[in-house]
Amino acid sequence: MAFDIDMIKGVYTKMAERVDIARDIVGKPLTLSEKILYSHLWDGKPTKALVRGKDYVDFAPDRIACQDATAQMALLQFMQAGKSKVAVPTTVHCDHLIQAKEGAAKDLIHANNVSSEVFNFLESVSNKYGIGFWKPGAGIIHQVVLENYAFPGGMMIGTDSHTVNAGGLGMVAIGVGGADAVDVMAGMAWELKFPKLIGVKLTGKLSGWTAPKDVILKVAEILTVKGGTGAIVEYFGPGATSMSCTGKGTICNMGAEIGATTSTFGYDESMERYLRSTDRADVADAANAIKDYLTADAEVYENPENYFDQVIEINLSELGPLLNGPFTPDLSTTVGKEMSEKAKANDWPLAVEWGLIGSCTNSSYEDLSRASSVAQQALDKGLKMKAELGINPGSEQVRYTAERDGILDVFEKLDAKIFTNACGPCIGQWARYSDPKNAPKNSIVHSFNRNFAKRADGNPNTHAFVASPELTAAIAISGRLDFNPLTDKLINEKGEEVMFDEPTGWELPPKGFEVQDNGYLAPEEDGSSVQVNVAEDSERLQLLTPFEPIGNTITGAKLLIKALGKCTTDHISMAGPWLRFRGHLDNIANNTFIGAVNAFNEKTNFVKNQLTGEYGGVPDAQREYKKAGVKTVVVGDHNYGEGSSREHAAMQPRHLGVAAVIVKSFARIHETNLKKQGMLGLTFANENDYDLIQEDDTFNFLDLNEFAPGKQLTIEVVHADGSKDIVKANHTYNEAQIEWFNAGSALNLIKLQNA
Ligand code: F3S
Repeated sequence: MAFDIDMIKGVYTKMAERVDIARDIVGKPLTLSEKILYSHLWDGKPTKALVRGKDYVDFAPDRIACQDATAQMALLQFMQAGKSKVAVPTTVHCDHLIQAKEGAAKDLIHANNVSSEVFNFLESVSNKYGIGFWKPGAGIIHQVVLENYAFPGGMMIGTDSHTVNAGGLGMVAIGVGGADAVDVMAGMAWELKFPKLIGVKLTGKLSGWTAPKDVILKVAEILTVKGGTGAIVEYFGPGATSMSCTGKGTICNMGAEIGATTSTFGYDESMERYLRSTDRADVADAANAIKDYLTADAEVYENPENYFDQVIEINLSELGPLLNGPFTPDLSTTVGKEMSEKAKANDWPLAVEWGLIGSCTNSSYEDLSRASSVAQQALDKGLKMKAELGINPGSEQVRYTAERDGILDVFEKLDAKIFTNACGPCIGQWARYSDPKNAPKNSIVHSFNRNFAKRADGNPNTHAFVASPELTAAIAISGRLDFNPLTDKLINEKGEEVMFDEPTGWELPPKGFEVQDNGYLAPEEDGSSVQVNVAEDSERLQLLTPFEPIGNTITGAKLLIKALGKCTTDHISMAGPWLRFRGHLDNIANNTFIGAVNAFNEKTNFVKNQLTGEYGGVPDAQREYKKAGVKTVVVGDHNYGEGSSREHAAMQPRHLGVAAVIVKSFARIHETNLKKQGMLGLTFANENDYDLIQEDDTFNFLDLNEFAPGKQLTIEVVHADGSKDIVKANHTYNEAQIEWFNAGSALNLIKLQNA
């Protein structure tokens, strides 16, 4: 059901062959990350040494995972590719669209009522195209992937930034935008800049109150939220092998918080134990057979500075429990005195109102068992909860087993709310307040990964601190942000002073995992007769119609907006309340460019409509141009389209009729997304030409019929007074990408090739 052992054995056969070739070509011992990358080259066997941080390389991932929020547009696009099945094993997980309010049973019914059309759509598309479907309540994508699909040495992409969690089981797993996932589903290669490598040597051993979470909280402090950008973080050393597999998952998970491409660990006994306990003994056997390929060459870990671009060393025996936050995951504070001083100096509320345990980061059996050992002590020592406690188990398998083993019962005796096996408060799906914007200042502690303002409960005044599950439990019981469980006493109901003992727990359930219904629905072998229904009047879903090619004649195109300064994917397609329309292109298009600043009046969502001379919202003006059959051009500054890999930021302008985007420079992923949607993404050959563009300008593309790789395009810009400027534009389209433009989109081309 869950995984394909033959596929994994195939990966291992290739690995054994390709790693040896790569080592010869590179001419030195290889890190684990390089072994995985070189054995997943799209073109097959390695032929040249790839330059880190420079070469763009095509890869062939083994798996794809999508969550319910991002899967909608990804699958709508995939349906355009004209394929009968996905080319690579793919799963869809319903975890983001479930609110945490009253507890699992009621919340799940509510989610199924509110989002049934989205869930039904995802289920039927999955069934039709050979995609494994995990129902709402089955669990959080990354825990379910770790339990069922991740395997040492594999390469996976997923439409969620915390896909990186699977590094805990020795994968190179990377979060991507929907457009990239669709390419791979449709049988195309996936491109990535060959990453730099950061080595983290872990010495010593975790003990007492220190948990794997503290390792990544420390790494975040050292590297900051940007320190991992463009790099794979590879962990090694005795501290790494002494940790559980799910603990490694926690560390890799929060690699997203330091901007890392991904993180990974070499195959070891903890991974073998985890594979065997999650019913994958055959994967463990296959991995054991090629063990040496699933970790770096010995010399690499002996002299890491010769092989990594940066090396960090952390002694786990000296590491203490940390609390990171508020508002950023890299602001680290040790528990107790330091927190007390910092909180007073910064006016952070010392009283803690909630402790939340869960999220894809920390919702394993081990996490729940260690936190419950702390909760059990509160019961045994007569302590009353000072804050509220909420728990989101990572999967139904974890929940069922934890219930069987009495773990959930301990939390419930403390009046904790057991929420659905889903993201819940981690993605703002927490109905904590009726009016979050005006809610009071407060502190919460959670075991999640992200703690930006408003992330959990929508309240900008909530100060969220990130900690291990066991520390979260202890702080919630004490009710104080500066509580140090190693030294501080609490007063129990009898007025006695009591202290916590160190937490204890089980790496894996001693009686094994158990589950009745894990929430998985296997797709039809032949899905050709499966109907995918989307209601005509649906607000949230809309089947896509293929984009018409823009064509080689663009004359009389009007300027829609000249964006000033930063124009991220969020400025182009805002998030927040618009997320509910992610599966409905026309509805979400009503937010197009509403965050971008108009260079002519420095206002947002206020541009001149050249057809009427009136000023108004950008989507309104653009819809009028479209109605009148007038093509438009968007002009932008440097690093246009930075931010997320959200394909909506390219699809929406395309849907509304924008033909070209001309900027000083692009964020590469967005530039590629524009190309995939069949648009022109161009850069000013002379970036000062940005200043030539005026509010009433008209654009004539003079030589688009000669569109070719490496050849500049010439654009005549006609100003309101009739004067003209000639602007030269560069582009990075290769032959294949020009074909996308000619076909109207990359998917149109795939469909044509399939026909
Ligand atoms: Fe879900 Fe939060 Fe993880 S949104 S996927 S639990 S980061």
